Amino acid sequence: MKISVIGTGYVGLVTGTCLAETGNNVLCIDIDEDKVKTMQQGKVPIYEPHLDILFERNIKANRLLFSTSLEEGVSHGDIIFLALPTPEDEDGSADLSYVLGAAKDIGKLLKSYKVIVDKSTVPVGTADRVSRAISNETDVDFDVVSNPEFLREGFAIDDFLKPERIVIGSSSEKASALMQKLYKPYVRSGNPIIIMDEKSAELTKYAANAFLATKITFMNEIANFCEKVGADVDKVRAGMGTDSRIGKRFLFPGIGYGGSCFPKDVKALHKSGKDNNYDFDILNAVIKVNDIQKKILIPKILSYFNNDIKGKIFAIWGLAFKPETDDIREAPALYMIEELLKHGVQINVFDPEAMPNVKRRFGEQLNYASNMYEATKETDALIICTEWSIFRTPDFSQLKQFMNSNAIFDGRNLYDLEDAKSEGFYYSSIGRQ
Ligand SMILES: NC(=O)c1ccc[n+]([C@@H]2O[C@H](COP(=O)([O-])OP(=O)(O)OC[C@H]3O[C@@H](n4cnc5c(N)ncnc54)[C@H](O)[C@@H]3O)[C@@H](O)[C@H]2O)c1
Repeated sequence: MKISVIGTGYVGLVTGTCLAETGNNVLCIDIDEDKVKTMQQGKVPIYEPHLDILFERNIKANRLLFSTSLEEGVSHGDIIFLALPTPEDEDGSADLSYVLGAAKDIGKLLKSYKVIVDKSTVPVGTADRVSRAISNETDVDFDVVSNPEFLREGFAIDDFLKPERIVIGSSSEKASALMQKLYKPYVRSGNPIIIMDEKSAELTKYAANAFLATKITFMNEIANFCEKVGADVDKVRAGMGTDSRIGKRFLFPGIGYGGSCFPKDVKALHKSGKDNNYDFDILNAVIKVNDIQKKILIPKILSYFNNDIKGKIFAIWGLAFKPETDDIREAPALYMIEELLKHGVQINVFDPEAMPNVKRRFGEQLNYASNMYEATKETDALIICTEWSIFRTPDFSQLKQFMNSNAIFDGRNLYDLEDAKSEGFYYSSIGRQ
């Protein structure tokens, strides 16, 4: 099939590449000229494990092309995916200007029947608005489908090629048949393609993300309570997680959820509720607790240093919002950095992939180390913000040699309490003492 993907970010590029992998002819469109140039030169502009191999293979096979021209995109694809940003607006709602703007432009360029697929995460009713934005500009026949994306950064290729489910929201039999044909190669093992109406599909994505954010936040509150009463959240987690109704995943406490999806999606669903006279009390609490959780290590650090951290030097390990990505959008590490800078602290940072993005944001305010140990040289404390695998079994004796003071504040509970203490460290983590 001929496919166009408008917006070539984390979702669009993975979608385009993985659709090319099953033999489709894919044209990816982006307004960012530098990004398009980079891709045309055969370089992947983001870090996503295993994407490069598929990317190179499909470019070589001439099945994956890039352009800045929306006109080319509209004429190329029988199916046109919108993988555009839906960032948080000032009032917490999803900013639909990218999606609706592109829909309007597509309307002006439409010459024959196309299926326009909304892959961006959007509030209930957006498919109708996209339809109206297009039909205001043209009399040509088209269908709009809601096809929310569930991929996780860091596992995006696997998630796209072997999805647990595909959700298609469509009231058009023709469009829905075409979408099922497109996705058939990805569900050969029997995972479902779930067809529903557009509104339910749109809400499914928000409900899934808000539920996961709530699960994380619930565990963060349990962890905070563990500290008050002397319980160990790791043991509580193990005890809870073995209940199959609860499950083991998303029970790990930490310094809050971040990323390009959970924070904005929880807020957008909350705002959607308000707009429809429904107060999502539970989401209100999730947003509030997560805001506090992102800085939960700060009082612990202040208390350890008797409220005097001005001029101290700290190392931060992990800057991306989670491991295996270079994405720093809403990363808890950024909130830590901002808070520590306010206290007049010097910060050395290290992350395996996210350093360039952080440098673009903080410039010379931070020292960028070339490896995890270098970051700890002559520091008064090490703070862990992202659970990259390489941080899991450090050489503690090297750390002790490098650091001025043996204090670790771990926002991701990477080490056994006893191990860290027996290595001679003051070790503070989340929900354990
Ligand atoms: N990142 C994720 O893990 C993830 C997962 C599931 C769903 N989503 C949703 O998918 C959507 C896209 O997210 P993302 O993380 O890929 O965003 P992104 O910011 O990484 O990518 C968006 C891309 O769109 C381009 N763009 C902006 N305006 C354009 C226009 N008018 N024409 C062409 N290109 C344009 C940008 O230059 C950018 O390359 C969002 O709604 C997001 O909530 C994201």
